[in-house]
Amino acid sequence: MAIQKALIEQLETKRAAARIGGGADKHEARRKKGLMSARERLAAFFQEGTFQEWGMHADHDCHNFGMEGKSVPCDGVVTGVGLVDGRTCAAYAHDFTINGGSLGRIHALKISNLLDYALKTGIPVFGFNDSGGARIQEGDDALAGYGSVFFRNVQASGVVPQVAVIAGPCAGGAAYSPALMDFIIMVKGTSNMFICGPEVIQAVTGQKCTMDEIGSPMANASVSGNIHFIADNDAHAIEICKKLLSFLPSNNVMDPPHHPVPHIDLSTDPEMDALVPDDSKTPLDMPKVISRLVDNGDFLEIQALFAKNMVVGFGRIQGVVVGIIANNPLVKAGCLDIDSSDKAARFIRFCNAFNVPIVTLVDVPGFMPGVQQERGGIIRHGAKMLFAYAAATVPKITVILRKAYGGAFLAMCNREMGADMVYAWPTGEIAVMGAEGATKILFKREILADKDPKAKEAELVAEYREKFCTPYEAAKKGMITDVILPSETRSVVSLALRSTLTKRETRPAKKHGTMPL
Ligand code: HXC
Repeated sequence: MAIQKALIEQLETKRAAARIGGGADKHEARRKKGLMSARERLAAFFQEGTFQEWGMHADHDCHNFGMEGKSVPCDGVVTGVGLVDGRTCAAYAHDFTINGGSLGRIHALKISNLLDYALKTGIPVFGFNDSGGARIQEGDDALAGYGSVFFRNVQASGVVPQVAVIAGPCAGGAAYSPALMDFIIMVKGTSNMFICGPEVIQAVTGQKCTMDEIGSPMANASVSGNIHFIADNDAHAIEICKKLLSFLPSNNVMDPPHHPVPHIDLSTDPEMDALVPDDSKTPLDMPKVISRLVDNGDFLEIQALFAKNMVVGFGRIQGVVVGIIANNPLVKAGCLDIDSSDKAARFIRFCNAFNVPIVTLVDVPGFMPGVQQERGGIIRHGAKMLFAYAAATVPKITVILRKAYGGAFLAMCNREMGADMVYAWPTGEIAVMGAEGATKILFKREILADKDPKAKEAELVAEYREKFCTPYEAAKKGMITDVILPSETRSVVSLALRSTLTKRETRPAKKHGTMPL
C-alpha cells in the first residue's frame, strides 16, 4: 500500500505551476532588472525551510473580460507563516509576474486569512507589496477585497506589529493597506507609491509633476513622511524588517525582546561631558548623545529623512529595549513644528501600544514661530504629542539636556505630563521662554526708561538666566527627580529603566480617547 504515483505527480505538477507563477520568461526579465521574485523575497526573509505556504492552489473565480478559462496561479500572492530569527511571523508577497500582482477576490481572501491568523495567534505581519493594484477585470470584487484587508489591518493595529515593504508599484487606494500598517519601507529605484499619478494630476488640476516628485521613495520619506525607511534593494529591505523585529514584541501582551545585562555597568562616560558645548548658543549634537546612550551605538532611527528636528528610533540601554524621542538642535534649533510633532506622536503611540519604554531627551527652545505653522494647525499637531505622552502608560523617562522652554517642554513629557522620572543636566534650562524674550516682555518699560537701555537689558537677562536657566529652581519644587552629569546619564537611565519595568498603570475604561488628529 502506498499513495498512487499519479497523485504524487499531479501534486508536483500543481506545485511547480504555482511556483513558476507568470512564467519563467517573466521571472528572467525581473532577474535581469535585479528584482527578486515574491518567493525569493519570502525565502530570504524566513529561516531556511521554515516557510509554510498557504493557499498555493488558490486561483481566481472571475468570469469577466477574458478571465474565464485562464489560470492565475496562487491568485497572484504568496502567503504563509515561518520563522524569522526563531520567531513565528506571517508574511505575504505579491507576485508581479502573475497579472501584475493585481488584487482580486481570492487574492484578498488569502491576505485576510493570514491577518486573521496573525491576530488570533499574536504574530507580526510583513507584507511585500509589488502590485498593479485592484484587478481591473474583477471590478467591485477587487474593491471589496481591499476593504476586507484594510478592515483587518485596523483590527490588527496595536495588537501585532505590521510592516509593509513597497518593492514595486503601489498605486491608488492600494497604498492604504501599507498606510494602515506600522512601518513602511520603500525600495530605492524599483518602487513608487502614490494615490494619483502625474497623468491624473495633470488631467484634473493642470499641475505638471514627475513620479520622482510625488511617488518616489525619497518624496515619500522626506517630503510627505508617508514612509519610514528607504532600502537600497530588496535584500536591504529584508534586513531592515529583521532589525525592526529585533526590537519589537510579537504582540501587545508581550514585552519587547529585552536582554537585560546581568550586572548593570555603573561607570561614567566622560565623552558625554565632552559633548556639551561651552557656549549655550552652539547646538548640542543630539545624534552623538543618542549614540553614546544606547548599547554599542546601535540605534535604529525611524523616519530619519523626515522632520529632522526630531529624532526617534529604537535602541537598547544595557539590554532594555527603548524608544528614544529627542529634539535635534542641529536642525531648526530643535523647535517643535507640525511635521516633527506628527512624527513623534505616532512613534509614542506605537511604543505605548507595544510596551516599549520611552526615553525622551529634551533640548527644545519652543514651538516653531511662523504663519505657515499657525495656519497649518501647529496647535492641533502639537496637541498630538501632549495627548500621546499623557495617554502612554509605558515607563517614561525624561532627560533635560539644555533648553526646556514653554509648552514645547510639556510636549516633550515633563513630570506633570506623566514622566515617571525627570533628570536634568546642570545645563538644563527650565523656563516659560528664553531669557532674552522673557526680559523684553517683562521689563520693556524699565529697559526703555533706562539711560543705557542695552546695559539694563543685559543686566536683566543675566538676572533671569541665573534664576531660570538652571535646573535647580524646578528641582527645588520637586519637578526634577535629580540633577545628573552628562557622564552619568547612561548609568542613571539604565537603573531608572530597571526600576520602571514593572510599572503597571491603568486608566479609566473608555472606547478610546479623541486624539486631535
Ligand atoms: C489587472 C493588471 C493590473 C491591474 C497590471 N496588470 N496592473 N492586470 N489589473 N490593475 C497586468 C498587465 O495587464 C500585464 O499583464 C501585467 O500585469 C504587467 O503589467 P505591465 O503594464 O506590462 O507592467 P509595467 O509596464 O511594469 O507597469 C506596471 C504598472 C501598470 C505601472 C503597475 O501595469 C499599471 O499602471 N497598471 C494599472 C495600475 C492601476 O491603475 N491600478 C488600479 C489602481 S486603483 P500581461 O498579461 O500583459 O502580463 C486601485 C484601487 C484600489 O488599486 C482601491 C482600494 C480602495
